[in-house]
Parts: sequence; C-alpha cells; structure tokens
Amino acid sequence: MKIVCIGGGPAGLYFGLLMKLRHPAHQVTVVERNKPYDTFGWGVVFSDQTMDNMRGCDPVTAAEIEQAFNHWDDIELHFKGEVFRSGGHGFVGIGRKRLLNILQARCEALGVELVIECEATSAADDPDADLIIASDGINSRIRTAHADVFQPDIVTRPNRYIWLGTPRLYDAFTFLFEKTEHGWFQAHAYKFDDKTSTFIVECPEHVWLAHGLDKATTDESIAFCEQLFAANLQGAPLLSNARHLRGSAWLNFQRVTCAQWSLHNGHSQVVLMGDAVHTAHFAIGSGTKLAIEDAIGLAGLLHDAGHGAEALPAVLQRYQAERNIDVLRLQNAAWNAMAWFEVCGERYCDQLPGPQFMYSMLTRSQRISHENLRLRDARWLADFERWFARRAGLVLRDDPNDTQRPPPPMFTPYTVRGLTLKNRVVVSPMAQYKAVDGVPGDWHLMHLGARALGGAALVMAEMTCTSPDARITPGCPGLWTDEQGAAWKRIVDFVHAQGDAAIGMQLGHAGPKGSTNAPWQGAGADLPLESGNWPLLSASAVPYLPDGQVPRAMTRADMDRVRDDFVAATRRADAAGFDWLELHGAHGYLLSAFISPLTNRRSDEYGGSLANRLRYPLEVFAAVRAAWPAHKPMSVRISAVDWVDGGTTPDDAVAIARAFKAAGADMVDCSSGQVHPDQKPTYGRMYQVPFADRIRQEAGIATIAVGAISEADHVNSIIAAGRADLCAIARPHLANPAWTLGEAARIGWVPQPWPAPYRSAKSQLEAGFARAAAAQAPVKVES
Ligand SMILES: Cc1cc2nc3c(=O)[nH]c(=O)nc-3n(C[C@H](O)[C@H](O)[C@H](O)COP(=O)(O)OP(=O)(O)OC[C@H]3O[C@@H](n4cnc5c(N)ncnc54)[C@H](O)[C@@H]3O)c2cc1C
Ligand SMILES: Cc1cc2nc3c(=O)[nH]c(=O)nc-3n(C[C@H](O)[C@H](O)[C@H](O)COP(=O)(O)O)c2cc1C
Repeated sequence: MKIVCIGGGPAGLYFGLLMKLRHPAHQVTVVERNKPYDTFGWGVVFSDQTMDNMRGCDPVTAAEIEQAFNHWDDIELHFKGEVFRSGGHGFVGIGRKRLLNILQARCEALGVELVIECEATSAADDPDADLIIASDGINSRIRTAHADVFQPDIVTRPNRYIWLGTPRLYDAFTFLFEKTEHGWFQAHAYKFDDKTSTFIVECPEHVWLAHGLDKATTDESIAFCEQLFAANLQGAPLLSNARHLRGSAWLNFQRVTCAQWSLHNGHSQVVLMGDAVHTAHFAIGSGTKLAIEDAIGLAGLLHDAGHGAEALPAVLQRYQAERNIDVLRLQNAAWNAMAWFEVCGERYCDQLPGPQFMYSMLTRSQRISHENLRLRDARWLADFERWFARRAGLVLRDDPNDTQRPPPPMFTPYTVRGLTLKNRVVVSPMAQYKAVDGVPGDWHLMHLGARALGGAALVMAEMTCTSPDARITPGCPGLWTDEQGAAWKRIVDFVHAQGDAAIGMQLGHAGPKGSTNAPWQGAGADLPLESGNWPLLSASAVPYLPDGQVPRAMTRADMDRVRDDFVAATRRADAAGFDWLELHGAHGYLLSAFISPLTNRRSDEYGGSLANRLRYPLEVFAAVRAAWPAHKPMSVRISAVDWVDGGTTPDDAVAIARAFKAAGADMVDCSSGQVHPDQKPTYGRMYQVPFADRIRQEAGIATIAVGAISEADHVNSIIAAGRADLCAIARPHLANPAWTLGEAARIGWVPQPWPAPYRSAKSQLEAGFARAAAAQAPVKVES
C-alpha cells in the first residue's frame, strides 16, 4: 500500500513507523510542515500504561523513550502556604521535541520517507495513495475540508492557559494555586528533562480579563506569571517557545469530537487520527497517549487484516468503533478534570480546607475512587482518613506508631442540630403504595424496621401526604389523622427501641401528579386512576402528562389550607417521635410544580421570576420549620435540574438552595428531574452528585447526594471530597435492607456494629469478601 501521513506529530510518525515495521513493503510517507526541531510546546506526560503498550509494539522505540523520559510517581499540591504530596500515580514525562526526534529517527531507520517543511494543502495532494492519515493536529485542515462528512463538534472552553517552560525542576506532577485580587490562578508543572519543566498557567476568562492579560504581549504575560508564582519559582525564569504564534499566547482549550472518522475522497481512503479527531484536556495529560494509541489501534487492525488495500473500508470502520470507546471514556474523564479546574477558583479554593482540596483535586476526573487512592498511596490515604475523622469529631490517639485504622469517611458521624447520625448513609425515601386509607401498616413496620437494623444512620419514610387529595395513589400513607399518627408512632418506636438509627419523615403533596395508580396497578405509574379520582391542585392548570388529569390552579385560600395541612402533619410527625423532617420539593409534585417554570405559568406574585415561584414553597417551609422543634433537623428535597430546555437549571438550583437555607433548612437533598415527561436525564454512576457538590460549595449549605450511588467506595469518595455530607441510597436498599452492613464488610471495616441476633453472620461475610478480594488482583485506574 501507499500510505501518506499528513502531519508529523506523535500520531503520524508512530503510525508510519509501525506500518513500515510490520510490513516493509508498504510505501509510507510522513509530510510535516515544520522543521524537525521547530515545535510548539515543552514536555508532555503519559502514563505507565501507555509505555507498556508501546513496548509491546516496538521495543526499540520504547527503549529509546525510556532512556529519555523522566518517570515520577508523586502529585504535589501547593495551596495556601501548605504542601501536600501523595504517591503511586505513575507518570512519564518527556520533551515533546525529544519524543518527536526519537520517532523521526526510527521512521528514517525503517525506511519511512519524511517530507519536512512541506505544507499539505489537501487530502487530494497525493492521488496515488491508498490510505491518507490526517494526523494534522487540532486545527486539521483535512477535517475542515470534509467537515460535512466528519461532522466535527468543537467546543471552546472558557479558561485561558499559557504553555510555558522553566529551568526550575519539579520532581512531581506539581499543582500551584495563587489567589489575586481578581481570582485564582493555577499552574500545572512537571519536569520533562534534566534541565526543564513544563509550566502551564491557567485561569478563568474573567480573571484573565480583569488583569488586562488580553492586551499583554507574551513577554508581559510571562513577567506577570513570574511575579505571581515568584515564591515557588525561587528566581527561576519562565520561558516561551511559542513566540511564533500570532495573537495572544493565552489559549482556550478546544474539545474536538467527530461523528465520522474516515471517508473515501474519490482516490484514497482518508482517516483522521490523534488531535485531528479528538482532543483531551491537559488536566489529565492524555492527548499524546490517545494519539499514540490511535496509531497502535489502526496499525494492529491493518496487520490483522493482512495489510491489503481491499480491507481498508472494513478496517477503518472497526478502527472508529473500537477506538471511540477508549476515546470517549478518556474524554469523559478529561472533561470532568477540566471542569474541575474551570470552577475550582469559585467553588473549591475558598471553601475546602487543604487536605480536602487535595482529595477533591486527586479525584477530579471521577475515575479515581477512594479505594483506588489506597492502592496508590495507602499511607497518604490513612493520614487523610485520620484528618477527616478528627474533623467529624472523633477522638483518635495521637501516636505516630498507632496502627489503629481510622474509620473511612462513610463511617464517620455527622451532627446537625441536636441529632448525631452514626454514619453518612441515608435510606432514601421510597414510596411503597401499601397504606390503607393513608394508614401505614405491617408492611411499613417491616420495610422501615428492617432497613433501620441494616446499618444506615437515617431511614427516611416515603413521601407521606398531608391530606387525602395530596396523595399520589390510594396506597400512599398520610399524616392527616390521629390514627395515621399512631400507626407511624408504632414504627418509630420500633426503630428507636431496636437500634441506633434515626428515622425521618418526608412530607409532600402530589399536586398535579396525584390520583394515579401504583406502578404495578391498572395502567401503571403516573397515569390517572380508572375510577375514584380526586380533583388535583397545582401552581397552574398544567397536567403532568399531555392527556392527564388537569389540575386546578391554586387560589390563595387553597394555599392557606394546604400550608396548614403541612403544619398539622408536622406536629403529628413530631408527636410520633420522628427525628428528622424532609419537605418534598422535588419531582414535579406540588411544591416542585411551583418552583419549575415548566409547570408554573402564574402571572401573580407566585409566578414569573424564580423569587416569585419560590414564594409559596418557602412560605410552607417557614410554617413547617416553625412547627418543627428547633433541636430537630429539617431538609428539603429539590429537583436540581429539570433536564428539559426552559426548565430549572443547576444555576437556579444554587439560588433555590440559598433561599431554603435562609428559611432555615439544614440540608438540601439533591435529586433531579421527574418534573416534565420530556426530560432527557444523563444517567450514570453518581450522576446527581455534581449538583450536591455545587450547591454545597456555592450556596454554603450541607447536602445529601442521591442517585446511582451503589458502593461504599462511591460514598467514601463523595463524603471525603466534600461533594456532599450524606449519601442517600434507594434501590440498593430494596435489594438488601442491610446494604450498609454488607458494604462495611466488603471494604473490611470490621468495627462496624451489627444487631446482636445477626452477629454470627458478620465474620462469615467479612471472610468471604476478604477471600474474594485476595483472589482478584486490584486494578489501579489510569489518571
Ligand atoms: C498546553 C498543552 C499541554 C499538553 N500536555 C500534554 C501532556 O502532558 N500529555 C499529552 O499526552 N498531551 C498533551 N498535550 C496534547 C498533545 O500535545 C497532543 O494531544 C498531541 O500532540 C497530539 O498528537 P497529534 O500527532 O495528533 O497532533 P500534533 O502533535 O498536533 O501534530 C500535528 C502535526 O501536524 C503538522 N501539520 C498540521 N497541518 C499540516 C499540514 N497541512 N501539512 C503538514 N503538516 C501539518 C503540525 O505541524 C504538527 O507537527 C498538551 C496540549 C496542550 C495544548
Ligand atoms: C420504589 C421507589 C420509590 C421512590 N419513592 C420516593 C419517595 O417517596 N420520595 C422521594 O423523594 N423519592 C422517591 N424515590 C426516589 C429515590 O429516593 C431516589 O432519589 C432514586 O431512586 C435514586 O436513588 P437510587 O439510584 O439509589 O435508587 C423512589 C425511588 C424508588 C426506586
């Protein structure tokens, strides 16, 4: 085959040499517009795992790189005068020029033709080529020329960065944070040869503008950065090698994805590779890794297919399908890491204490979990756990030789008002639809009782309704009669008598989503009852489903009646002995229907602006708070986003949380959606945690995270990073009432107490998990 690589970066050169190595009969040319030593950038990093892959493909190149690279294990953070360092992260740093020179030399040795200082103008420059690799970087000319087929999606991110070098040698992947009068700057620095370190400085656009850096020359920008990081640079200069670039030396990162990676241009197959088809933010330093692994992937597939041109169409399709999985996974992690650096100045720098800031930064990609940190650096994590446990109020011995294991963050206590929860796990409220005339019965005693014995600190009862017409279904429990109050008291008394879990009541009014079936009855959930319906109330006469029951827009008299019902139910909840009260302001029910602009179309003082839409829910909250004893905590559950255009946004959620905080809420329980049937949620592991995190830091109120949190490792990571204060777990508790006890055993947290009659199962379960863990080698996730 005749193969032409347009662009002699890591992707084009490595693909070229691999093809020639595997099948010397190929005619391979790499066209590069720059001189061999003329390259933008300083060092690049990639992981140990990429090195392993390269060793498997071409040991000669790998050995050369290994001789030239710098390997280090540590990440170091300089933050507010403190230095934090943790190990086991495994990076390889190499000068970009050095890497390219090694690849160029190997290409030449193998007989790849290098056409240097030659600008390729189009993929049709070489009509005889069977295969054209468009490895022409982030601004790929080939991709742009065929944008109709490749369908690139290019997102320009808001932060500004400048890529500099320095002779100061950083022997760890070092992060520096400095605050100015206009906001925070951060630097990412690492050594890549004996004389030089990469030094990337980054800040939000508004901070950059406020410092006038948009008007600064490269020299002025360098002088600014030198002064900003003077204490750390210790007199070392910062250097630029991008003076040839036009315009500002400060760039915005562009995230590139493409729907299609290859095409036939009438002469040749053309395929995108490396930065031309996808980019990954430098926050997890993976652009070179992806470029090299693209080259490995395509070269391997062509080799397996026998190196014939006739196999190209099928091979190129497979290349995209296979590589795209890895790329998306990495882009996702890089996106989370990038987003963390974009908001850290506003969200974390001033809010989190140093050790927790370090933890949050290390887990920024959300791919590294608590147990993964333990694999990397067990000692650092144990120190962190000790620090965290002390902050949670535990008294630990101050003996450096103390081998006593501190409790993982999940098993630290949490105090709010007069209540101390024994750990951070909440059984999330889950409707059972098993009440008769609103009276909870044996089912509820069994359901809540079993979960109260299962290790969680707080068991929340399901949404309990304030009047008959506040119910979702005829099977919903209530608190509008003394009989219901007494039935709840039986359950609360059992929980208090048999264990040390607290029990919470969730009060709600179904609003426009009432008068429906239980999920397994009649037409199913959310659909109107076939008979026996009751009239519905809501903010506006907007049905939940297009052909559903139309609620009546509440009058002021309705509002008074419903508020008073909430207050009466609150008094009954207190009399029943509940320890905690949650107001249900989420999921499209009555209070949520006031908050969301999708369901609130009122033109009076209860509709329009967010402040107006919040007026009635806050009135109910204040009335309930006043009736609920001051020593007992109260939370509010909100839908932090509606997942529908024009609905509530995460920005709104921060404002909503601030308003409830001002009204006396202790915590915000951060759920999402279920407000509108057109919602398009992005589900995934811990998918609602970012809302809890943002609200906690920006509104300054404690939060409960909920949604697809299914392992102790998730809970530990969330609590340790300060993304939430408690984690509510729903579906896993349906499968296993003793979920918390099981997870404690799984992670080897042996001090976890069990109910006395169940104790004989404890050591057996622990031993089983220990055996399973020993049989399975732990895996350290990359970046
Ligand atoms: C600030 C910053 C820090 C980074 N840090 C890291 C890091 O730590 N680790 C990491 O792995 N990655 C890092 N990267 C990303 C990394 O530089 C790229 O992802 C990687 O180089 C992609 O390789 P590539 O071969 O696809 O493209 P490139 O390296 O961009 O190579 C493309 C080549 O094509 C040439 N070219 C373009 N158009 C033409 C044309 N028309 N004719 C001829 N030649 C042409 C260019 O001159 C260039 O040499 C960083 C990027 C930035 C911006
Ligand atoms: C069967 C069931 C019933 C639920 N009922 C309620 C409820 O009464 N009140 C509420 O706020 N959320 C309710 N939810 C939502 C859960 O509390 C929780 O937010 C959601 O299931 C996501 O958590 P998970 O991924 O741990 O299941 C219910 C969920 C389930 C599965």
